[in-house]
Amino acid sequence: MKILKSLRQFTYNILDSLYLPMDRRRIYRTRNIRLIPGQGDRRGGKLSYAEWAHVIGIFQALMFIHLDKKEGNKILDIGCGTGLLGIASEPFVASGGSCTGLDVMKEDIDFCRRHYPSPPFKFIHLNMKNPKYAPDQEDKKLPWPVEGESFDLALALSVWTHLNEEDAVFYMKEVRRVLKPGGKAIISFFLLDELYRESLGKRFKEPGRFHMTPQTDWIFDRPAYGSSSWFCPKWVKYPESAIGVTSEGLERMLSEAGIELAAQYQGNWKEAPGVFFQDVLVLRRPI
Ligand SMILES: C[S@@+](CC[C@H](N)C(=O)[O-])C[C@H]1O[C@@H](n2cnc3c(N)ncnc32)[C@H](O)[C@@H]1O
Repeated sequence: MKILKSLRQFTYNILDSLYLPMDRRRIYRTRNIRLIPGQGDRRGGKLSYAEWAHVIGIFQALMFIHLDKKEGNKILDIGCGTGLLGIASEPFVASGGSCTGLDVMKEDIDFCRRHYPSPPFKFIHLNMKNPKYAPDQEDKKLPWPVEGESFDLALALSVWTHLNEEDAVFYMKEVRRVLKPGGKAIISFFLLDELYRESLGKRFKEPGRFHMTPQTDWIFDRPAYGSSSWFCPKWVKYPESAIGVTSEGLERMLSEAGIELAAQYQGNWKEAPGVFFQDVLVLRRPI
């Protein structure tokens, strides 16, 4: 079984390395997706080329809808991984804007620095611990090394889903600090709301309708470090492997940080049609 899996991975790697350069020559209408990396550098729980292109498209559309001006934006990508949202941001930073990626994974930051053109891209490594992604780094809260009130938009895709309560609240306050007044944030969550509770009854009866992993993966029934609002599934080694937040926890976090909810798009992880797999919230720093 293990041999078969390695053989499949080996074959996929070869096909991907042959396919990507050929496919790039056939991209006529969506210039920014030429930056999608090869399979060994596609991370963030989205590994296939098709899924990267799909998710880039979703977030590019959300950015277009919610950005006040469409060009020259200063964008911050928190937990940038290997740059998926940077690719989605490219059209909106044209004409004098920039996209800054932050991440605790040194390897991913090093990759991004090699792969994406600078300007407009810039990448910063944060020497801060995350038990899943950077277990050996410093166990302290680090304000991001970027200027206050300097970004039009902050993005985080599948990052608050790996933060415990303390880090999540601290980071939300950082979002407020770095956004310009009126600036927006687009952040994904596993939101444990009414729809989530309704979906629990469907999990064991039928195979997943909207994604391929077993539905029991996304049952958040264990308090993360004893929190009353942040929960993880039973199967995780560290809570930071997957964390969901209740509606009450979200409301409290936003109010403590001084951030408003501007729009909400439900995720299809709850076995209902959604814009993306996780729930996506559009947040706003009041003027
Ligand atoms: C599931 S990946 C998502 C990566 C990327 N946003 C994407 O969607 O492709 C989660 C990312 O969050 C980063 N991360 C975890 N804790 C972090 C923290 N405290 N500060 C910044 N990044 C963090 C991880 O290193 C990892 O790259």
